[in-house]
Amino acid sequence: MKKILLKSIKRYWFAIFLQIIFIGLNIYFLTYPPKIIGNIIDLLYDLETNQNAIIMQVWYLLGSCMILLGIRMPWRWLAGYIPRSIERDLKDKLFEQFMRIKMASLQNIKNGELMSYFVKDITEIRKFIYRLMSHGTRFVFTIMIATFTMMSGVNIYLTLVTLCPIILTIFLIIKIKEYVESSFRKSQKYFTDLSEYVQESTDAIRTTKAYTGEMNQLKEFIRKNRRLREANNAVDVHSTLLSTCLNICFGLCYGISLLYGSKLVLEGVITTGDFVAFNGYIGLFVGPVSWIPGVISYYKRAKISYQRLDNVFELEKEKILPKVPAKEDDFQGNIEIRDLSFNYPENLEMVLSHINIKINKGETLGIIGTIGSGKTTLMNLLLRLYPVPDEKIKIDGKDINEIPLLTLRNHICYITQDNFLFSTSLKENIKLFKDGFEDEEVKESTKNAMVYDDIEKMQNGIDTIIGERGVDLSGGQKQRVVISRAFLNKSKVVIFDDTFSALDNKTEQMVLNNVKELVKDKTCIIISNRISDIKDANQIIVLDGGNIIESGTHETLLNKQGKYYNFYKEQTAKSQMALN
Ligand SMILES: Nc1ncnc2c1ncn2[C@@H]1O[C@H](COP(=O)(O)OP(=O)(O)OP(=O)(O)O)[C@@H](O)[C@H]1O
Ligand SMILES: [Mg+2]
Repeated sequence: MKKILLKSIKRYWFAIFLQIIFIGLNIYFLTYPPKIIGNIIDLLYDLETNQNAIIMQVWYLLGSCMILLGIRMPWRWLAGYIPRSIERDLKDKLFEQFMRIKMASLQNIKNGELMSYFVKDITEIRKFIYRLMSHGTRFVFTIMIATFTMMSGVNIYLTLVTLCPIILTIFLIIKIKEYVESSFRKSQKYFTDLSEYVQESTDAIRTTKAYTGEMNQLKEFIRKNRRLREANNAVDVHSTLLSTCLNICFGLCYGISLLYGSKLVLEGVITTGDFVAFNGYIGLFVGPVSWIPGVISYYKRAKISYQRLDNVFELEKEKILPKVPAKEDDFQGNIEIRDLSFNYPENLEMVLSHINIKINKGETLGIIGTIGSGKTTLMNLLLRLYPVPDEKIKIDGKDINEIPLLTLRNHICYITQDNFLFSTSLKENIKLFKDGFEDEEVKESTKNAMVYDDIEKMQNGIDTIIGERGVDLSGGQKQRVVISRAFLNKSKVVIFDDTFSALDNKTEQMVLNNVKELVKDKTCIIISNRISDIKDANQIIVLDGGNIIESGTHETLLNKQGKYYNFYKEQTAKSQMALN
């Protein structure tokens, strides 16, 4: 995170440098109007003699105002440009990081939390950079330039006595800020909590409605929302305390200046013009000092956000880039799994135990098993979505860990169980991050997946955008759109993870026939709990609780009269009942 931030700051160093120069000039020229007004007041004593000098001073006043205008415009523009540019860089890098984090780490981050990194944390950092650049720098310059002008131009003792309350107030502010920080931390936590809740509730809206859970969801939302409001109120109370402190401070400054300053005027130590200018100079401090709590507050918030983001940036990334140039011909798709056992990180329970499988190029493996028996997990390992122990999975005789991720994943087409579709066109969903396919090829793949007719009926065909204007697909349509990817993809290994479950028997048979044709010289894995999907596979394994309890061809497994046979009996009985 530090590196990313520094790199971004380095990128905009010239803009930052310019802004500092503009701020310095702005403060310097701000000391001119009080000084000129003081001069005019002193010249007013002898109006006749000083007439020309007064006119000159008025010109100076106008001139300094024009210069100030000229400085402020580019400075204000830069003040917005720099933090927004750094924010953009951070968002790009954070998204890149999310894309590359290892699944094992990513699964601990909830969706709502992910959003709050983008929406809240990066914004906090931008706001702090803005405050630091414009307010913090102005504070430093004001202290230096205005104090020097007051001391050298008016009176050193008057300056020191008048500015005493400011120093005391700064200490007080820092103390009160500790309370602001703790209340802000709470508010941020509740905000994340609420975002996560909204995210989850919207994802689950169908289930909630189906189970009439709206009121329960609403009640919980109201509770969380109220808790957030209370935390925000606490932040406001502490912030108000701070501004009150500031008002008292400046009241004291002006009071001291009036009392001690007028005494000095009466004693003839300073002129009336100096006295007026001095009060003008005090005015220069009001803004910068009142911004200090803001800068500290934003610093504390940004610090918390920085730590949160830093934790994400520290998460281990996948090494996606190939170490060696991937030669397509190297990859054949002969898979051998030898004594593979696996448990998910942070979960000691074994999900797969002593798995042994051998599939040669051109063969099909069928996997059947109870719910949660580890079927998807085994596929996750074939794609190295989770760390695979060395020498347990070999592809074409090579340890899977030695194969560059990009090569491995490019050669495996994994049709996942969740049928996830992005809110983009059907065409893009089928091509899925891969370019170089003609529309005709995409259409051909939808024909093979038996979804072509459904798509043709839609107004924009394969260009129909999913999720827009009510275009949503049925479960079976979604499955077939997802299956189309397998027909388009030129990969050497194809995996179907429970992707035929929503199809009716007739469509399923037609899709399976096309799949058979497709995988003639590929390695294919079909996970399904329907015997009809896997019965023609060269080899079938039955998974139960992470163990292979049976394996063989359809016929040998039926002869064994074990679990597979039971599945078969159950399913034939069901289809008999359906026919009657
Ligand atoms: N990301 C994960 N982190 C921790 N445990 C997980 C994770 N994914 C799955 N599991 C656990 O691993 C076991 C196997 O899950 P898996 O998804 O591989 O089963 P499956 O055979 O594909 O089930 P299904 O038939 O429902 O698709 C389950 O007990 C599940 O709770
Ligand atoms: Mg599964």
